[in-house]
Amino acid sequence: MKSIIFELEQLSYGYIDGGKKRLILNDLSFQFEKGRFYTILGPSGSGKTTLLALASALDAPENGRVIYNGEDIKKIGYTKFRRNNMAIIFQKYNLIDYLTGMENVESNLMIMDQKFTKNRKEIAYQILSSMGIVQTKADRRVTKLSGGEQQRVAIARALAKDVDLILGDEPTGALDTATAREIIDLFKRLAHDYGKTIILVTHSDEVARNSDISLRLHEGKLVVDYGE
Ligand SMILES: Nc1ncnc2c1ncn2[C@@H]1O[C@H](COP(=O)(O)OP(=O)(O)O)[C@@H](O)[C@H]1O
Ligand SMILES: [Mg+2]
Repeated sequence: MKSIIFELEQLSYGYIDGGKKRLILNDLSFQFEKGRFYTILGPSGSGKTTLLALASALDAPENGRVIYNGEDIKKIGYTKFRRNNMAIIFQKYNLIDYLTGMENVESNLMIMDQKFTKNRKEIAYQILSSMGIVQTKADRRVTKLSGGEQQRVAIARALAKDVDLILGDEPTGALDTATAREIIDLFKRLAHDYGKTIILVTHSDEVARNSDISLRLHEGKLVVDYGE
């Protein structure tokens, strides 16, 4: 049986351009299943970042609904949804520069409603180690790590929230091919072994080829390139 965790329902969104309204997302609908790794391809300007902004409750659609676990995220509350139900990873890692890797992960353990009070540091080290960051590296300021290592910390940081849904805006965009491949393998593992739903926007065909379901943003709608 299909287990739908996240739904975009008839989303529309546009920007005013030269006094005229231009629709970027046009009655877009899609259902995402638990434990699958999705990519969304589309040329620059096709609306990928706009779509993620709506999916991550940074912005509200003009029409339509974003549904998490059967409930409209507006009803859950945008702040609550962002804090407890999803994590987002960016191309530029978005880590806190002056903290170590461990502290970056720990800070995310603290912001959830269900607070981890004990063993926070230990848990942070554990998650980092499962993402390939050993303790000596976890204790370094994140700016002293390579791009690939920083992205691993960013993923560990997302995992610290223990959410079902992980979104990414070009998370391998700043990495070389080999490192990007390793990061993609991590995402795959999170989907297949840990039941996370991963939705990455990308302009890389290679990243798309390695996902379970490859979607394309075309004329304001999501169409399936392959997958089912
Ligand atoms: N704040 C804004 N005001 C007006 N137009 C915007 C704004 N943000 C994005 N756009 C336009 O909307 C389109 C989609 O942008 P975006 O979602 O960033 O695309 P992508 O991430 O696929 O490159 C682009 O044509 C962009 O110029
Ligand atoms: Mg973008």
